[in-house]
Amino acid sequence: MNGLNYDGFDNIHLIGIEGLEKSLITKLLERAAFFNSQKRNKKNEILKDYLVINLFFENSTRTKASFEIAAKSMSADILNIPVSTSSIKKGETLIDTASTLNAMHPDFLILRHPNSGAAEMLSKHVQCSIINAGDGRHEHPTQALLDAAVIKEKKGKLEGLKIAICGDILNSRVARSNIHLLITMGAIVNVIAPPTLMPVGIEKMGVNVFHDLNLGLKSADIIMILRLQNERMIGSETPSKREYYDLFGINEENIRLANKDVFIMHPGPMNRGVEIDSLLADNNERSLISAQVEMGVSVRMACLEMLKLSRDKIYK
Ligand code: NCD
Repeated sequence: MNGLNYDGFDNIHLIGIEGLEKSLITKLLERAAFFNSQKRNKKNEILKDYLVINLFFENSTRTKASFEIAAKSMSADILNIPVSTSSIKKGETLIDTASTLNAMHPDFLILRHPNSGAAEMLSKHVQCSIINAGDGRHEHPTQALLDAAVIKEKKGKLEGLKIAICGDILNSRVARSNIHLLITMGAIVNVIAPPTLMPVGIEKMGVNVFHDLNLGLKSADIIMILRLQNERMIGSETPSKREYYDLFGINEENIRLANKDVFIMHPGPMNRGVEIDSLLADNNERSLISAQVEMGVSVRMACLEMLKLSRDKIYK
């Protein structure tokens, strides 16, 4: 850790990728790659005597577990709040719950919430550091960072690569955070979705918009596949799963339109046979899905470390 600093970052919260400098993202990715190279055989003491609380109002397997493993690898104490059996079920508001937890002096609160803006709102009411683990359709910064770290590991760079993001862009915080990050880092981003699942005005983020899968996949270096997030849909944005697969499902056949050494990614959870063909999902030559899960821990370690350094400047 000697000499490690994240110049230009003086925030104690990580709410989104939007607004983060290229140099800061580069540093986080380097640090994540370093933690990843250690393969968890070296537990460190970076967060000894620090308390991390996981507060997840939506289901999660990967994100929650990887924050917990990251915290434990850094010798932090970690508490998982079981939302379904807590006072939240008795009608307590998010701010009241967070204030209660804040009074127990945690250093970090990892928040996942169905409302866009929940993490930002909470950060104004607590002294602990808030890490946004996904807020509605808004942002999921650690997912974008782990995706970028995996791409960098496999392709050696981000700049100039063509990344096709395909699926339910409208409801996806993963897409939004990835677009901010990839554009900042100089990648070319194609977004592919039916018109009903494409946010109006998304081209203002600097992406190329496609409603035709075959055109959008052309010469892509990476294909990021997104789940249909039915829980966030308001009306009937999609045809049947079968029709969706026929028009937008990614399989061994249509990836031939991309570059011959294309990799596919998926943040999980996957719906096999809807947005991705099962054979392709299991094709280890093409799929980076396991690498994404592995990198998730390392990226979260890097983010915790960065915020710890900012906190220490203020509180220690
Ligand atoms: C994503 C999420 O929750 O936004 N999952 C994840 O964090 N790995 C994507 C999704 O739920 O489809």
